[in-house]
This record gives sequence, C-alpha cells and structure tokens, in this order.
Amino acid sequence: MSVHDGTVVLGIETSCDETAAAVVMGGTDVLSSVVSSQVDEHARFGGVVPEVASRAHLESVVPVVREALARAGTGFERVDAVAATAGPGLVGALLVGLTAGKSMAMALGRPFVPVNHLEAHLYASLLEEPDLALPMLVLLVSGGNTLLVHVRDHGDYAVVGQTIDDAAGEAFDKVARYLELGQPGGPAIDRLSGAGDRAAIAFPRGMLHDGLDFSFSGLKTAVVNHVRANPDVATHDVAASFQEAVVDVLVAKTERAAAALGTSTVAIGGGVAANSRLRERLAEVAVRRGWRLALPSRAMCTDNAAMIAAAGWHRLRLAGPGDLATGASPNLRLGEQP
Ligand code: KG4
Repeated sequence: MSVHDGTVVLGIETSCDETAAAVVMGGTDVLSSVVSSQVDEHARFGGVVPEVASRAHLESVVPVVREALARAGTGFERVDAVAATAGPGLVGALLVGLTAGKSMAMALGRPFVPVNHLEAHLYASLLEEPDLALPMLVLLVSGGNTLLVHVRDHGDYAVVGQTIDDAAGEAFDKVARYLELGQPGGPAIDRLSGAGDRAAIAFPRGMLHDGLDFSFSGLKTAVVNHVRANPDVATHDVAASFQEAVVDVLVAKTERAAAALGTSTVAIGGGVAANSRLRERLAEVAVRRGWRLALPSRAMCTDNAAMIAAAGWHRLRLAGPGDLATGASPNLRLGEQP
C-alpha cells in the first residue's frame, strides 16, 4: 500500500498499566489520543500486578478504541492500518492490545503493524516537532530503560549508553516506595522536591565521570542508609537531593554523548522525561551548547498510543505490513523488530 500524509493509523498500547488508543494521520497529526490509567487499581498493592493489569486491559481496550475513534470524528472505515505494541512489556498485558489490534485489522481488511514500544518513545518528540532534523540524540528514560540513543535515521538506531543496573524510573519508584510516597514514584518525588533543598544531602552520582553508561542502584542504597541513620531527616530534602543526583548524571551523560557524536539536536522521551528538574536542567544546557532541544509534552513522554501510531506509520512506510502471526515479545530491545 502507499503510505502518505493522509494515511490514518489506529494505535493501541497495553504494555504496562495504561490502556491507550489513538488515531494519527500521516505520522504526525494526532486526531485523538485516549489514555485510561489503571493506577488506582494497582495502588493498594504498591506496584503494578501483571494479572490485574491484563484483566483491566481486557475490560478497557474496546471502549478506549471506540472513544479514540469518536474523539477523532471518524469510524473504523477511515482507518488505513492498525498498529499495536508487541513488546517490551508484561506478556499478558501485551497480548490483550496485540490481539485486539490484529483482530481489528483482520476484520477491517487493513494492514497490521506490530510496534516496538521503545522505538515509539523515540517518536514522541518527532510527533510534536515534525521538523526536527535527523540525526539526533535521544535520552530515553522510563520505568524499565535508561538509554542514550543515536537516531541516525528512521529505523536506524545505535544505543550509545545504557544503565548497567536499575533504570532511572525504577530508582524513582523504589525510593518513593521506601519513603512511602505511593506509586508511580516519579511524579510524587518530582512534586515533593519542589519544597525541598536539593543540596541538603550529597548523594552519590554513580559513574558520573565514567563513559556514557549509567548506574542507579548504589544511589537507592545510599538513600536507604541515610534515612536509617537520620530518622528525623525531612522527606522533601531527601526527595530533592535524590532527584538532583539522578538529574546530574542524566544531564552530564547526555551532554557528553552529544559532544562525542557531534550532534546538536537532542530530544527526550519516556516517563522520567516528564520530570520538571530534568527538563529545566536540559533547557539550561541547550542554551549554553546551542542545542535544538525537543521536550515533548508530559502526556507524550509517559505511555500513550499516539507514539505507537506514529511509529507504526513510519514502520509501514519503511517495511510494509507486519505478520498477523506476530506474538508478544516481553523482552524486545531497541533495534529489534517484533
Ligand atoms: O514511560 P513510562 O510511562 O512507562 C514505561 O516504563 O514504559 O515510564 C514510567 C516511569 C515510572 O518509573 C515513573 O515513576 C516515571 O516514569 N515518571 C517520572 C515522572 N513521571 C513519570 N519520574 C520522574 N519524574 C516524573 N515527573
């Protein structure tokens, strides 16, 4: 099929705890984007419970797709292709969106496109700023990944840095759990840090002067040890100091990677890219370094289906339709196709 500016893709995302659907035209024109969060259903367990997530996706996926079509002012007949996340993520959760997407594509007689969720995070910035020129450097920071990615062209990526232990979002979530701030931890720490002193506690900056890889597990342990040794410490100071340590490392490595690659186009993506302090600090570096910096809106950083539809549009253009036999790939990595 010919893929062009008028090609409409229905995107479906169910890799973790958000059931999302979106209608996107031409890879950049978001006609609708609906996200139904399960945060409340998982709250009493202190984290995402895979079985609860699968069941909630099953209940929500069809209503969420209908809502996305209604908000876009279109029916199924206007959909030219259906894209769904095939991985990485929770296998049971992935299966729900993937099966829904394949079934809809089959019933409509339209192409189906399986999408790599990590590749989709790279498209968040391009969706909102389509004139961003490639190559660019993307800092992709989510609950499961911390990656520095050189996006040389569409579908052509090189990972130049990654975490050797915990992901940045995982560190936020673990520290928030320890401080009893609720889940997801990132937004809670971000909010609380506003009232805290970020210089109050000198937490370690893992691997700060060492290459482009990251390490956050020592920082989490340092937070636990500090609070145990100082039970009266103000929680907002711990939050602000912890956040500053994470942001220091993320910013330093992004700056080093951009210099090493000789690129001045930099973007961010993934849930942690919604962090206020990270955005503020990167904006300062961008002015100093003369970067073109793309900071996607917070809703586009966290899990959504508009990025899935956008990545699906590009994949359809580059590689044609996917296979209806495609299964869920819980451990899919960036650069691998489902
Ligand atoms: O990309 P995402 O929505 O889901 C995947 O992991 O794919 O990222 C979720 C992660 C969680 O760890 C959450 O705590 C973190 O992003 N997060 C934040 C903020 N908002 C979400 N971390 C720091 N500051 C935030 N404002």
